[in-house]
Amino acid sequence: MSLITWTKEEFGTNVTVADEQHKVLFGLLNDLHDAVPAGDRAAIGAKLVALVNYVVEHFAEEERLMTATGYPDYAAHKAEHTKLLETCSGVAAKFHKGELDITHDTTAFVKDWLVTHIPNVDKHYGPYLNSKGIS
Ligand SMILES: [Fe+2]
Ligand SMILES: [Fe+2]
Repeated sequence: MSLITWTKEEFGTNVTVADEQHKVLFGLLNDLHDAVPAGDRAAIGAKLVALVNYVVEHFAEEERLMTATGYPDYAAHKAEHTKLLETCSGVAAKFHKGELDITHDTTAFVKDWLVTHIPNVDKHYGPYLNSKGIS
């Protein structure tokens, strides 16, 4: 069973590019989660890199939309992104040095972050970006 499933009710921001990227993000997190039980470090590492790279790409896109439109809560929003990326970079670096394993606790941490951040932080830019003609 998938760790995380995108639904419009829970995660819809009313901004198409964000919703599409969130769906991809969930897919990459599910892929990583599903790779954990077999314990193949090469496979897990590849999925971890794919997930972290996509998180970077997604955050950059959200930040681009927010700065382009002068979004008032940009700084606080970006600070949340930066904090998660610092955590993810630290985990990935330790994993690649062989100092840490990726477990279901790791994927649960990312899920918890997403299910908090998207409804409580991302959703707030929806009406603002819509008012600037982005939907
Ligand atoms: Fe997002
Ligand atoms: Fe965000």
